[in-house]
Amino acid sequence: MPVLFKLALLKLYAAAIRRFPAGRGTSADTSDPLSDVDFYFPFKDLQSQIQSANILCPAPGGPYDTALSLITTNCPSSGTDNVPINPCCTQDMLKDLAGAVGCVQGSDTSLASSMQSATKDFIQQCQQAGVNGPPTLPETASHTLHPSLASFSIETAFFIMYVGNTTSPNILTRDLLQNIKDRIGIPAEIRIGGITADSTFWDPSLEAAIFNFVDNTGALINTTIGWEFWDAARELLPEGTQITVNLNLESLNFTRALAVAESAVQGLPNQVAAFEIGNEPDHYFSFTAKNYSNIWEPWSKNISSALNFTTPKFQLAATADDPLWPYNTIAADAQLDCVSALAAGVDDANTVEWCSEHTYQYSVCDPTRTAIATLPNLMRNIIFIAVSNFRLNNTVRKQLGSQAFVIGEYNSVSCSGRDGVSNTFGQALWLLDTIFYAASLNVSRLYLHQGGPLALQSATQLNKGGFSFYDLWYPIDNLNGPVQVFPSYSAYLFVADTIGSSRSLKIANIYPGRQTNESTITTAGGDTSSGQLVIYGFWDESHPTG
Ligand SMILES: *[C@@H]1O[C@H](CO)[C@@H](O)[C@H](O)[C@H]1NC(C)=O
Ligand SMILES: *[C@@H]1O[C@H](CO)[C@@H](O)[C@H](O)[C@H]1NC(C)=O
Ligand SMILES: *[C@@H]1O[C@H](CO)[C@@H](O)[C@H](O)[C@H]1NC(C)=O
Ligand SMILES: *[C@@H]1O[C@H](CO)[C@@H](O)[C@H](O)[C@H]1NC(C)=O
Ligand SMILES: *[C@@H]1O[C@H](CO)[C@@H](O)[C@H](O)[C@H]1NC(C)=O
Ligand SMILES: *[C@@H]1O[C@H](CO)[C@@H](O)[C@H](O)[C@H]1NC(C)=O
Ligand SMILES: *[C@@H]1O[C@H](CO)[C@@H](O)[C@H](O)[C@H]1NC(C)=O
Ligand SMILES: *[C@@H]1O[C@H](CO)[C@@H](O)[C@H](O)[C@H]1NC(C)=O
Ligand SMILES: *[C@@H]1O[C@H](CO)[C@@H](O)[C@H](O)[C@H]1NC(C)=O
Repeated sequence: MPVLFKLALLKLYAAAIRRFPAGRGTSADTSDPLSDVDFYFPFKDLQSQIQSANILCPAPGGPYDTALSLITTNCPSSGTDNVPINPCCTQDMLKDLAGAVGCVQGSDTSLASSMQSATKDFIQQCQQAGVNGPPTLPETASHTLHPSLASFSIETAFFIMYVGNTTSPNILTRDLLQNIKDRIGIPAEIRIGGITADSTFWDPSLEAAIFNFVDNTGALINTTIGWEFWDAARELLPEGTQITVNLNLESLNFTRALAVAESAVQGLPNQVAAFEIGNEPDHYFSFTAKNYSNIWEPWSKNISSALNFTTPKFQLAATADDPLWPYNTIAADAQLDCVSALAAGVDDANTVEWCSEHTYQYSVCDPTRTAIATLPNLMRNIIFIAVSNFRLNNTVRKQLGSQAFVIGEYNSVSCSGRDGVSNTFGQALWLLDTIFYAASLNVSRLYLHQGGPLALQSATQLNKGGFSFYDLWYPIDNLNGPVQVFPSYSAYLFVADTIGSSRSLKIANIYPGRQTNESTITTAGGDTSSGQLVIYGFWDESHPTG
C-alpha cells in the first residue's frame, strides 16, 4: 500500500516534520536518526511573517534583529516550502527565535553553543524514542483528517474589529487567513460566537456593521448587528469560508434568535456551515440536559422549517466545563454536554449535525486559577482531559458520524489569556501539540478563540480589557499592544503545511503514545530543562511511493 509517512517532532524549543515513502524508514538505521530525514518546517513563512507582518513578542529591537539575521544566515532562504532544510537549522532557528525575542525565558545568551547543545540533546532524545516510526498505518491511527482541522472562533462582538468592514477591510486579517487557505486549498472555518453571542441581536436598519452597547463601567451589555456585518463576513474572509453562527439562547427570545439565523442565511449564501444555540449554556440557567433539550430541540426544529433546511444544520452544546473523569459515573452523566443532551432527546427532530465542546487549559478568571496559569505549567502539563474519547465514541460518533465531534472554542488560558504565557513561543508549541493530539483522538476540527476587550467578563479576572493575550494576532492597536502577529500563528501555518493538499491524511501519536485516560503525557515527568518530546506520524495512503 503506497503510504506517505511524515513525522512531527515537538520539543520544548523545537518542532519538525519528516516524511519518507514507505519502507525507507526501516533502513534509516544510522547513528544520527535525523540524517535521513526530510525536515519540514514552514520557516520561510515564519521568516516572511516576521519581516512583513511583524511576528514578535513582546517588541522589536536589538534581539529581534539578531534572531532575524541568524535565520537569514543559517537557513537557506532560496528554497520553496517543500525543499528539505537542514534539521539543525530548524532546531536552531526555533530556539533562537524563541530565545532572542524573549518569548521563552533565559535562552538569549551564547546562542551558538546553546544551539549546538539543543540540537545534540534533541537528536539524543529522538534516538531514545526510536524516531523511525512504523512505515505502515498503526492501529492507533486517526480517521482521515479534516482539511480545516485548525480553525478559528472569533468573539461575535469583536468580529468586525478583526475583519474590518467592506469600506475599510483589515488587510492583516485577510492576509493571515489567506496564507492558511493557500497552503491547504480550503479555508480555515470560522465560528462567530462566544459569550457575547448570547447578548447579540439583529437590526436590519443598522447602518454600521455592528454596535456594541458599553455602559459607563466599561461592561459590554449587548451587541446589535446589521446587514453590513454579514457583508463583511462574506466579502472579507477567504472565498468559500464555512461559517458557524452562534445564536442567542440566553435572552430566551426565539423570534430574535430566528432573525439572526435568517439574516445569516441571506447574507452568507452557501457559507453557513451550522448554527449553535447558546454559548456555554452549562454556565447559566442551571440547565439540565433535559430542560436544555426541551428548549434547544424545538428551536432548532422551528428554525430549520422556517429556513427550509433539508439536512441537519445545528451544532450542539458548545459547553464550557471539561467532562468529568472517570466518565461513567452519576456525576459525569449529569453534566450538560453533547452526550447527555443526545440521551435526553435533543436530536429527536433530526437537526443535529455536529457536537461541540469547549476547552481551556488554564484560566485567569479568578486568583486561585491565576496562580497556576504559568508558562512552565503550560509547557509541562499538557493534559488534554477535555475530550474523553470513550464517552464520545459510543454516543456522539455512533449517532452522528466519525467527524461529528469538534472543539468549537479553545485556547490556552481563559478570560483572555495571560501576558508572558499566552503570547509566547511556548503557547505556539502547546498549540501544535494540542491540535495534533486532538486530531489523533479523532477530534474533527478545533476552533481557536480570538477575543477582544471584555473588561468585566468576571469580577475577579486578571485582565482589564484590550485584545486577548492568547490571540494569534492583534488586528488593531489596543490596550495590550500595537498591531502584531504572535508566535502561535506559526503553529497554524505548521498544521496547514502538514495537511497541504492531502485529503486522505491520517495521524497517530507514535511517541509517547496515547494514554489510558487520554491525557497527553510528556516525557521526563515534565522536566522542562531536558525538554519534552512527542512524535506524531502522518500517513497518506493515496500518495504514490517515491
Ligand atoms: C467601517 O469602518 C470604518 C473604520 O473603522 C468606519 O469609519 C466606518 O463607519 C465603518 N462602516 C460601517 C458601515 O460600519
Ligand atoms: C442593550 O442594552 C441597553 C441597556 O440595557 C438597552 O437599552 C438596549 O435596548 C439593549 N439593546 C437591545 C438590542 O436589546
Ligand atoms: C422578543 O423580542 C421581541 C422584539 O423585541 C419582542 O417584541 C417580544 O416580546 C419578545 N418575546 C419574548 C418572548 O420576550
Ligand atoms: C432546569 O432544571 C434545574 C433542575 O431542576 C433547575 O434548577 C433550573 O432552573 C432549570 N432551568 C430552566 C431554564 O428551566
Ligand atoms: C415551534 O413550532 C411549534 C409548531 O408550530 C409551535 O407550537 C411552538 O410554539 C414553536 N416554538 C417556538 C419556540 O417558537
Ligand atoms: C421556504 O419555502 C417556502 C415555500 O416554498 C417559501 O415561501 C419561503 O420563502 C422559503 N423560505 C426561505 C427562507 O427560503
Ligand atoms: C472508538 O471507535 C472506533 C471505531 O469504532 C474504534 O476503532 C476505537 O477503538 C474506539 N475508541 C475508543 C477509545 O473506544
Ligand atoms: C479514530 O477513528 C479511526 C477510524 O474509524 C479508528 O480506527 C480509531 O480507533 C479512532 N480513534 C479513537 C481514539 O477512537
Ligand atoms: C490521567 O493519567 C495521568 C497519568 O496517570 C494522571 O497524571 C492524570 O491526573 C490523569 N488525568 C485525569 C483527568 O484523571
